[in-house]
Amino acid sequence: MTKLKSVLDGFVAETALVLGSGLGSLVERIENQQRYSYEELDGFLMSGVSGHAGELVAGTIAGTNVLILSGRAHYYEHGDAAAMRAPLEALKTAGVKRLILTNSAGSVNKDMAPGSVMQIKDHINFSGTNPLIGEPSDDRFVGMTSAYDKQLRKTFRRIAEQNDIEIHRGVYMWFSGPTFETPAEIKMAKRMGADAVGMSTVPEVILARFLGLDAAAFSVITNFGAGMTGDELSHTETKEMAPKGGEVLGRLIEATFKAGF
Ligand code: HPA
Repeated sequence: MTKLKSVLDGFVAETALVLGSGLGSLVERIENQQRYSYEELDGFLMSGVSGHAGELVAGTIAGTNVLILSGRAHYYEHGDAAAMRAPLEALKTAGVKRLILTNSAGSVNKDMAPGSVMQIKDHINFSGTNPLIGEPSDDRFVGMTSAYDKQLRKTFRRIAEQNDIEIHRGVYMWFSGPTFETPAEIKMAKRMGADAVGMSTVPEVILARFLGLDAAAFSVITNFGAGMTGDELSHTETKEMAPKGGEVLGRLIEATFKAGF
């Protein structure tokens, strides 16, 4: 096991991307790739979830250095909401300043169909837990008023408009998983102000803000929430549908780097 910074051997990236379920194909957009298995990296937990590679990729997009976490550890795998703390700390030590998080999610908004992409503008932590529980310092009292960086949101929105890429904006609600929601929970989520529901990202955004990293996040919509169509939900469907929105998101990220991210 080696520390990320020494593995990278002088490679420095300001931006890191975390890829969600079924979104591994975004890695194909990375040039000059160096790949490292999480198994060789200090503090990186392998995700046991199929559709998550468990690899860190260093490379470039449009000539700019980037680090990609292809696969993440989830709360529902370990019962530890802070499972991503060590990898995010390692990214910060290696010089990363901003984190772009991606996930697969269910839509509770009938105007946001499977295959579309939603930029997260805010979240609701419905999990009942928080990755900073147990953190002893006063730094734990993190302000979450601007958790999703305004400037980054604006930049992505502008690039999306300039490139004719349709991006929805909305509120993401974090459920612990691993079960999908019930139809009653989806109705509740909608009433509480959510546009999408999922099982990740919120703990990482909390940790990013704690560590002083700017955060932006996107959901790739793989299905309508439970009960909205009558269909049963499955992880197979998530993996099958994710690449569609993943392609849209890949174009947006590439265009943003090309514009001088
Ligand atoms: N709910 C929670 N997580 C998800 C969903 C969903 O409907 N789809 C993909 N990830």
